[in-house]
Amino acid sequence: MAELCIALDTDKERAKEIIEELKGLNLVFKVGPYLYFSSRGEIVDRIKDYGFKLFIDFKFHDIPNTVRLAIRSVEEMGADITTVHILGGKHMIEEALKERKKTKIIGVTLLTSQDEDFLKSMGINSSVRDYVLKLANAGISLGLDGVVCSGREIGYLKENIKKPFITVVPGISYGEVAGRDQRRTVSVEEAKGKGADIIVMGRSLINRRNLRKEVMKILEILEP
Ligand code: C5P
Repeated sequence: MAELCIALDTDKERAKEIIEELKGLNLVFKVGPYLYFSSRGEIVDRIKDYGFKLFIDFKFHDIPNTVRLAIRSVEEMGADITTVHILGGKHMIEEALKERKKTKIIGVTLLTSQDEDFLKSMGINSSVRDYVLKLANAGISLGLDGVVCSGREIGYLKENIKKPFITVVPGISYGEVAGRDQRRTVSVEEAKGKGADIIVMGRSLINRRNLRKEVMKILEILEP
């Protein structure tokens, strides 16, 4: 069954309210740099103490040794999921994997806010699909647990990558808020239908008044 991951792209106070309101539900909370630094890491303990899964999303991309140490501390923190950029290269991914114990390491290919025009402007004459597949294939072959991809790419990736892997799918449109700066969006139903493993939703949810009700509706959609 697909899991729901809520991107806590908000400040510490609102993040605490959200965690409290969603107590007891089966959810993953994603913490990025803004919340992590503004809460000075404090939010991480709260997520763990409440029994939620923790996704530390810093999209590491640095020299191999630096990323290896970053993964070590993410492991020590008890994160269930974290991310690295596949463009960090073979050596960086291999070093990152040396520290992996329990944390799933997910590779980032091309951000869903980017498109073919951007690739062209960088001199890359490839379709988004082929470029994403190339990166995903490299990351999974090197041993990453999964990739971040848009809902529109899941089928193509699953068909063309031989090893099993997890798909983490942002760019979900829901209600009227999402999709402002993300080009390759799909609905919750579509993501589920295409076989997403973890769907990531942020702005379309985190400021809703009846958040618990909305989240329960989505969890119901995701049920097998
Ligand atoms: O607010 P929204 O639902 O668009 O949030 C999506 C979340 O997914 C953000 O936290 C963003 O960092 C993340 N994301 C990602 N990879 C992408 C696109 C978005 O991790 N390719």
